[in-house]
Amino acid sequence: ADVRGKTAFVTGGANGIGLGIVQALVKAGANVVIADIRQSALDEAKAALNADAQVETVQLDVTDRAAFAAAADRAEARFGKIHMLIGNAGIGVMGPVLDARYDDWDWGMGVNLGGVINGLVTILPRIKAHGEGGQIVTTSSQSALIPISYSAIYTAAKAAVMGISEAIRGELAVENIGVSAFMPGPVQSNISQSGELRPQHLRNDSGYAQREADLEKRPNSPLWMSAEEVGERVLAGIQRNDLYILTHPEFGPGMQKRFDAIMASVPSEPVNEARAKEIFFLLDN
Ligand code: NAI
Repeated sequence: ADVRGKTAFVTGGANGIGLGIVQALVKAGANVVIADIRQSALDEAKAALNADAQVETVQLDVTDRAAFAAAADRAEARFGKIHMLIGNAGIGVMGPVLDARYDDWDWGMGVNLGGVINGLVTILPRIKAHGEGGQIVTTSSQSALIPISYSAIYTAAKAAVMGISEAIRGELAVENIGVSAFMPGPVQSNISQSGELRPQHLRNDSGYAQREADLEKRPNSPLWMSAEEVGERVLAGIQRNDLYILTHPEFGPGMQKRFDAIMASVPSEPVNEARAKEIFFLLDN
């Protein structure tokens, strides 16, 4: 759908991919509320965008449900209605599963999955209420489609986020709300600095402190896609209401291999017709 004159609420929009999406939306004529935990990055993004008539910023930790509602109130006070939710805020949390402690799981799942859930619970009813329709975009990851080693927590959250978008797409179509699951490959961003965002109360029972310190020193590769290019791809996906938004053809063979393995595991036994009918009924509803 056309985004001109519509309002998008973009979490994690002050840096990296989120900011790339914000730039594309602003250029296409949308109003954008940038919600991010980093106030300084919000200020810098607002100044760089130089489009104050279309841009509002609000400091928000997406794991804080009361603050999320307050941020949505502010968005509506400024622009009247929210049409699009871009659930993009996320952190990098990587390491061996054998080192993962509860604080690591809670932080990773809390931001990368919980943040998306909080966005849906807060904003979906508001989109439905105004009746003008809209769009949900959830930032998952290519790693949801090709899970790799040392990414158990990240993959758990991102696979869940992709699954949510797939599951709600049909339900929301009848409300004229489109849904896109966004699975980017490597993109230049600030994600290596995630560790500084880990809250104090989730630092005691962690096995990943050294990993986070190491990640901070990892530079962006020049081969990674720019956030601006990715933002344009997401905008195009919104305009077409694509269910899946992908960025890198290089992952195609790996995805094929994974799905071939899944298909090879389908039991090669005769189909029970009655059972098949029941399953088709469930899938259609
Ligand atoms: P980034 O660090 O540049 O941007 C993430 C933004 O989210 C930052 O502005 C950060 O302040 C904000 N944020 C983090 N925790 C937050 C919280 N609790 N509440 C509110 N805002 C919070 O990183 P990037 O790479 O742009 O990440 C954006 C999304 O893309 C994430 O969900 C990430 O998992 C995903 N992704 C990134 C890939 C990449 O290669 N950069 C690849 C696949 C997925």
